[in-house]
Amino acid sequence: MSRTFIICKPDAVERGYVGEIISRFERKGLKLVAGELRTLDAETLARHYEEHVGKGFYDDLVAFMSRGPSFVAVLEGPEDTYAIVRTMMGPTDPASAPPGTIRGDFGTIMTENLVHGSDSNKSAEREIGIFFP
Ligand code: RTP
Ligand code: MG
Repeated sequence: MSRTFIICKPDAVERGYVGEIISRFERKGLKLVAGELRTLDAETLARHYEEHVGKGFYDDLVAFMSRGPSFVAVLEGPEDTYAIVRTMMGPTDPASAPPGTIRGDFGTIMTENLVHGSDSNKSAEREIGIFFP
């Protein structure tokens, strides 16, 4: 078994897609083991996105991610659950994400890509520690 961390980003909450997104993961066979609506502040986002601090897109990313509530959650499934979630999310840019993926079905622009998922088991452990210590 393994766990991974996801965020239904502010655009997903605004557009009413939290249920759709969580439902996709549940229908896949993953179990929701923690979840809460939370407005993320700049300090928490700097910890979460530490590898992106200082990059050209960082300020836009923080402005977007803090503009309203997100649904932060932990999903549990088999080994490497993070990889299952990443496959279902699709690539970062919704414009090139294939239909059938969350970003491919519901997004159009890079920043507003609906969902975050940890990119490794190590990232999952780190991010769960930030949001659900
Ligand atoms: P996330 O961390 O949000 O799950 O997304 P990701 O792994 O697919 O992409 P990542 O490289 O970690 O980037 C984090 C978020 O920053 C925005 N971004 N913009 N303009 C750009 O070149 C650029 N690159 C990344 C995206 O919104 C991405 O979700
Ligand atoms: Mg990432």
